[in-house]
Amino acid sequence: MYVTTLEVKHFRNIEEEVLSFCDGVNIIYGDNAQGKTNLIEAIWLFTGCRSFRGAKDAECIHFNHAKASLSLDFFGENREQNMLLEIENGRKFVCNGVKLKSASKAIGQFLAVVFSPVHLSLVKDGPYERRRFLDVAISQLKPNYAIALSNYNKAVAERNILLKDVAYHSELYDTLDVWEERIAYYASEIIRQRIGYVNRIKEFSTEIYAGISKKKEELSLSYFEQCPAAGSTKQEIYESMKNLLYAARKNDILTGSTSVGPHRDDLTIQIDDLSARSYGSQGQQRSAALALKLGEAAVIKSFTGEQPVALLDDVMSELDTDRQNYILNHIKNWQVFITCCDPTSVKNLKYGKAFRMKNGSIV
Ligand SMILES: Nc1ncnc2c1ncn2[C@@H]1O[C@H](COP(=O)(O)OP(=O)(O)O)[C@@H](O)[C@H]1O
Ligand SMILES: [Mg+2]
Repeated sequence: MYVTTLEVKHFRNIEEEVLSFCDGVNIIYGDNAQGKTNLIEAIWLFTGCRSFRGAKDAECIHFNHAKASLSLDFFGENREQNMLLEIENGRKFVCNGVKLKSASKAIGQFLAVVFSPVHLSLVKDGPYERRRFLDVAISQLKPNYAIALSNYNKAVAERNILLKDVAYHSELYDTLDVWEERIAYYASEIIRQRIGYVNRIKEFSTEIYAGISKKKEELSLSYFEQCPAAGSTKQEIYESMKNLLYAARKNDILTGSTSVGPHRDDLTIQIDDLSARSYGSQGQQRSAALALKLGEAAVIKSFTGEQPVALLDDVMSELDTDRQNYILNHIKNWQVFITCCDPTSVKNLKYGKAFRMKNGSIV
């Protein structure tokens, strides 16, 4: 899959640009705060997922305007395709001339992976970031997963409300059953999908990490869950989750929140059998995050047959020459967007196109 043209109007600090890209490496360079990450973010939004910066829709609209309009021409599934995105009171997508009912319907059309310095939080921060990584990655492949997740979160929120009520109205105690059954039902789907995904990505990411570290270190990934039946059938996970929720009731009524379930699970990332989060050096954490992101791309490729577009924001400046060369070698057959301050850091590339960004414009 590759982008041919991007049109941007009133998005962040970009007034108006029409850019044609090559199907190899596209380098976007320039000083700090010129709009390089904004451009990467504009392309990313066509995946249908939310901004990787955690930005609200309104923050993406140029300060002096009320609406941002974007258009993307890309080649995928052996044909030329187009997507339009308007940001104004939310995001509205048109895909190949068809208006989509909701932004989540855009997921799965245009495929990309993004690595930016914010993704270091994947390794460094708490489990929330890692669950989110799994959820976004799986949703891109299986839109039904996003629906199960949303239903799961709603059911947990309902149980939490009820837990607070039960503290004062004990006659409501038995009604917890209804929500726990719902939670267990969606949890079984989520846990099964997450475990399947981790089993897939770990083969790719481990190999990529070995390449980055020149086989000096070993990365391992595993899904960490509280549900003892995880890894078994959906029915077994369902039963086990129900028991777990039932057993947690007393404690959960006291706290007014649900203490067990996939919203509390984690993805364990280890380097040479030690937690990357607790013991990894900065370089190791960075390499692990990158291995996860490039692994994500490999899973998309194996699943859909399409090579997703790689968006690498500020990645080169943080790696030594060996690691840079490994990355450049690894990505040479895909379309890649790389942002950097100094274009000489990607001078080893033979084939590519360079864009200089200044004050929101390509100059
Ligand atoms: N909604 C917006 N309207 C106008 N300018 C914006 C908006 N959002 C961010 N900016 C500007 O974009 C610039 C940062 O762009 P960014 O792409 O992050 O820079 P970099 O080139 O370092 O990656 C900042 O100067 C910021 O003020
Ligand atoms: Mg930037």
